[in-house]
Amino acid sequence: MTEDEKFAWLSGRMAIPVGDTKKPDGALGSAAFYPGIPRLGIPAQQQSDASLGVANTTDVRPGDNATALPSSLLLGATFDPATARETGEMVGREAVAKGFNVQLGGGANIVREPRGGRNFEYVSEDPLLTGIIAGHSVAGIQSQGVVSTVKHFALNAQETGRVLANSVLGLGALHESDLLAFRIAIETGAPGAVMPGYNLVNGDWASESEYLLNTVLKGEWGYPGWVMSDWGATHSTVKAALAGLDVQSGANLDPEPFFADPLRAAVVAGQVPQARVDDMVARQLRSLFAVGVIDTADTPDGAIDYMAHRLIAQRAAERGIVLLKNEGDILPAPRRMRRVLVIGRRADVGMLAGGGSSAVSPVGSLSVEGSAVMGVPMAKVYHPSSPLHAIKAESGAAQVDFVDGTDAGKAVEAAAEADMVFLFAEEWRTEGEDRPGLNLPDDQDALIAAVASANPRTVVIVQSGGAVAMPWLDEVPAVLAAFYAGSGGGEAIAGILFGRVNPSGHLPISFPRDVGQLPIPEQRDPATTTSNPGMPVEGEVFDIDYNIEGSDVGYRWYAREGLVPLFQFGHGLSYTAFDHRDLTADHRDDAVVATVTVRNTGDRAGATVVQLYVSRSGAGGFVPRLGGFARIDLKPGEHRDVTLRIDPRLLARFDATARLWVREAGAYTLRVADGALADGLNSSIVLPAASFTD
Ligand code: GLC
Repeated sequence: MTEDEKFAWLSGRMAIPVGDTKKPDGALGSAAFYPGIPRLGIPAQQQSDASLGVANTTDVRPGDNATALPSSLLLGATFDPATARETGEMVGREAVAKGFNVQLGGGANIVREPRGGRNFEYVSEDPLLTGIIAGHSVAGIQSQGVVSTVKHFALNAQETGRVLANSVLGLGALHESDLLAFRIAIETGAPGAVMPGYNLVNGDWASESEYLLNTVLKGEWGYPGWVMSDWGATHSTVKAALAGLDVQSGANLDPEPFFADPLRAAVVAGQVPQARVDDMVARQLRSLFAVGVIDTADTPDGAIDYMAHRLIAQRAAERGIVLLKNEGDILPAPRRMRRVLVIGRRADVGMLAGGGSSAVSPVGSLSVEGSAVMGVPMAKVYHPSSPLHAIKAESGAAQVDFVDGTDAGKAVEAAAEADMVFLFAEEWRTEGEDRPGLNLPDDQDALIAAVASANPRTVVIVQSGGAVAMPWLDEVPAVLAAFYAGSGGGEAIAGILFGRVNPSGHLPISFPRDVGQLPIPEQRDPATTTSNPGMPVEGEVFDIDYNIEGSDVGYRWYAREGLVPLFQFGHGLSYTAFDHRDLTADHRDDAVVATVTVRNTGDRAGATVVQLYVSRSGAGGFVPRLGGFARIDLKPGEHRDVTLRIDPRLLARFDATARLWVREAGAYTLRVADGALADGLNSSIVLPAASFTD
């Protein structure tokens, strides 16, 4: 490659007409484009967003629709690597058919901030669940010959002020939580590229953090792929290049084209070795070869079976939707009722989706006014899977009425006439800004309470981008957490409501009662101090101290502090029942292996998730870490032995000085339970001391 050809791959503008940026010749129109080198048989890089499907930001490819997956939270709620793989394959197939060869997927930040604007793009508050599900999703995408990223490396936990937030956390805790999720995702999915976040980590911008990029990722983890910055997240030339950044993405959003002429000048001046520039390019080529991009045809065949893909999205939602409450077994609802009422903003149109670069627009989506993220308009999208239509089809009710809920009086009046009410509550989250709190917006809490008082047979289905408070919980007999349920979400929800589907989702995040239970009740918002939250203004950085909880994120925080959340991590009800027996633990070839018998004790088939938690035994009580999990389907009366190998890092602490995981000798308690904070079936094992590298 000539120097010009190399440098054409080191700094790229968005391939979307924004401001004075035009779409480059040869670009399909997407997040990024890097020109091909025909004489060397190297195709152009056509990079598209994101984890939930092939995005078409600002409709830059007019009318180019795609299948929208359920949110990553819903994928996490399946606790099912096979579903993660299958949905990843679907995204990869659509990306290839549309001509893309890099998919900016693999959201693997753990959900540390429950109000986070992008929590719907992340899998869980737990590092093991996050790493395994994100990793299998990446493997699915890449199995189709498309490079996937993992992102946003690391500790990018909040959206508000994301370009100025300095995430502060001790290194041991960092490795035991956020970095462990990325480590497992990379081990599981071998992503071709890693994308650091906008934030700083312990004082260095993630995109130029020597510790994150060189010491850990490329050094100790031996990561062979390339590191691309987030869009508009590059802050220097020499420091970033020497710290391990390989590509400046979205350069039109940066104050300078740091990795274009300034980098060429730095090489001439001897500040950056030529070998570093060659490495930046070699890493990209290595991943493109490894995933098969170079060898596969570069002519997209364009054929996509959207119906089959919509079913894949629907099945994923059916496996992930969580039945939180079902008092008196009011669900599954009877079919052929006389009169049913559906309430919900646009519940007649479709399923709400999260905003930002991950937004996907299936055929027939409805896009309404959303918000702007770094100057790019991001619509609020409803996927064309109408809960109203699906309930009409599934229920067989003689009459199904609909009100959108904006007029509470009208909703209450209609509720009083119905045999049963299905109320779809919604909470829109988007990239670029967090929720101001945990309550549902637009007076929906009051609406739910009023409707429930008019009709005690009111079921609430929450469409949210994360945990929400439920002040009305005692007034309603049943609640579903549907998160954002994707292209087949309406049918999935209706299938569960009327019993075609036995719910089997389990919460991948805790639901706090209120912000008072959080490590940082008053979230840091620099809007009052920052002149322009959209773009970094050096010197206006603000700290977020995550040492308060350290690696005790989510359920570990509640366990350590003795708090009882509204719903715990791992919670999820079924229309059948399961029990666990005969838990045994064994320590062989330095791995702890646990076996338990699971039985379906109910009268209908269903799936459950075996959750194995581990904790040091002793005075500190049981402070759980998810050590292993398995999703299994069982017929009525069927039982099966499930064996789980516990990742040794979950029985150890990370010593950042020695650069080793260290397990203390002594007794450890293993627990199989239906939630992180629940009692369960215990076993204990005594382990020798051990230490090992990452
Ligand atoms: C965005 C996001 C990132 C996305 C990229 C390209 O700002 O942070 O996840 O892949 O820019 O759209």
